[in-house]
Amino acid sequence: MDAARVAAGVRAIAEECTKPGAKFLDIAGTIESEVVKQGGKNAFPVNISINDTAAHYTPCIGDETVLGEKDIVKIDFGVHVEGCIIDQAFTVDFGGENGKLVEAADAALADALAVMKAGVSVKDVGAAIQNAITSRGFKPIENLGGHSLEPYILHAGEEIPNTAKGSYVLQEGDVFAVEPFATTGAGRVDEGTYCEIHSLVNPKTVRLPQSRRVLEYILEEYKTLPFAERWLADMLSTSSIEMVVNDLVRQGILHSYNVLKEINNGMVAQSEVTVIVEKDGVKNLC
Ligand code: CO
Repeated sequence: MDAARVAAGVRAIAEECTKPGAKFLDIAGTIESEVVKQGGKNAFPVNISINDTAAHYTPCIGDETVLGEKDIVKIDFGVHVEGCIIDQAFTVDFGGENGKLVEAADAALADALAVMKAGVSVKDVGAAIQNAITSRGFKPIENLGGHSLEPYILHAGEEIPNTAKGSYVLQEGDVFAVEPFATTGAGRVDEGTYCEIHSLVNPKTVRLPQSRRVLEYILEEYKTLPFAERWLADMLSTSSIEMVVNDLVRQGILHSYNVLKEINNGMVAQSEVTVIVEKDGVKNLC
């Protein structure tokens, strides 16, 4: 799979540029342009989520945020080639105080992959994730989970929970992003107000010419895949982007991905790969 080859090359660059003092905008820019350089497209904006932020932080235009010396950072990126998506993530603990938390997320991923095969219920996969995390003294984040992937669809309907729940039975050929989240907090996330990522959910005719132009561009470039507001910077001024996005969100045309934070401000680690389900196991596509 072409996307897998691209993702593997990009992963090395992503690890290299994730270091204390690095600017979020530079990290996202480096990874996103590397995806294109290696022959893929970005399936969603690079998520750079630190500490108690679990997901959905991508830098905004003019973002001055830099990685701190003690941050625990999750880098989550997606590559697609003609709609076939590879979604993967890793966690780095700069301070060295959360090494065990990172290990718990990595172990949960390994244990999940070890039980996955055609005919296995996602409940049993969730149980393996939960057990790997709780046995190490942490909590799985119960309202986040892995997700099935289909061409051009990042969340295709089925879930790999972080706890023992769900009834879907894995089928041969299913493609899943498996992404355990472990935390030192309560084990739940809630939406924050920061929001830079959106996706098209309900295209319809719009009145404002500027909105119409942006909508056409999104349909053509991203289809239903998530995009960042800063990806529209070549078309519009920052204030126009805000106006158009608000207009499209208000009409129910765009869905917004607010940043997700652990409810007790616990530290969060994530480990993620994309796999295809086979008869006797899974094949790691990353
Ligand atoms: Co991901």
